Amino acid sequence: MGEGIKLPVLNGLGRTNRIDNWWAQPMVMGGALILLLLYTAWRLTIGDADIHYDDHRVTSPIFSPDIIYMFGITGHPGWVNSAILILWIPFGFRGTCYYMRRVYYRSFFMSPVGCWVDEPEINKKLGYQGEKRLFVINNIHRYMLFLAIAILLVKWYDVVHSMHIMSGFILDVGTIVLAIESGLLTMYVTSCHAFRHVIGGRLDRWTTGASGLMGKMHDFVSKKWINKSHGFWFWTSLSFVFIGDLFIMMVANGTIPEASITLIGGGV
Ligand code: FES
Repeated sequence: MGEGIKLPVLNGLGRTNRIDNWWAQPMVMGGALILLLLYTAWRLTIGDADIHYDDHRVTSPIFSPDIIYMFGITGHPGWVNSAILILWIPFGFRGTCYYMRRVYYRSFFMSPVGCWVDEPEINKKLGYQGEKRLFVINNIHRYMLFLAIAILLVKWYDVVHSMHIMSGFILDVGTIVLAIESGLLTMYVTSCHAFRHVIGGRLDRWTTGASGLMGKMHDFVSKKWINKSHGFWFWTSLSFVFIGDLFIMMVANGTIPEASITLIGGGV
């Protein structure tokens, strides 16, 4: 075997012979993450927004599942809301996501800055440390997956619960927002690499019977539009949390009117 070819890299942070806009993606993604974090912090301080329909209510995706309402928790300090209690789960799941690691390593640690682009001297000295020390926490991703699935199931329950099925088949605007958010989150969770491993029975070889079935499921979630598009589902599901939040907030404060679509019937 011959030795690998060493590409010449210009010395100096960010120096490269690349002629494309290699810096655009990490810059936009890093900026977006900071913006979304600041927005979330702001939303936590002003509390939830919800739309009340006859016998149900729809909360903003940031505050859902609304466990304070679901479990009738009372007597808590005024600054405590459902988002403060449950956000550690989506944060833990997304923060340890393999795709997310790639994004923040590039955008915030500049390690690497990009292919064939020189990185900071300190990174060269340290070298890649792997999932060690503080980053050993990334190993909890496979466990966070199960908590994320639990949240997903509650969200779908909320979608069904918020439909007016008894009085026809009416979809309120809040239900539609919840359903889109839950759908995108379903794609994000099912395209997760840890999910693919679990659904494949944690095997790397499949034969017949139950093993064959698990192999088929593994192949299915490996498809181009599922696992291979994990980054796409990461950003669309994350973006819709905030689009949904803005939408619910604007309906709740009367900026835009409530609306509903009657699919069948509609009589009370
Ligand atoms: Fe991204 Fe699991 S790898 S959510």
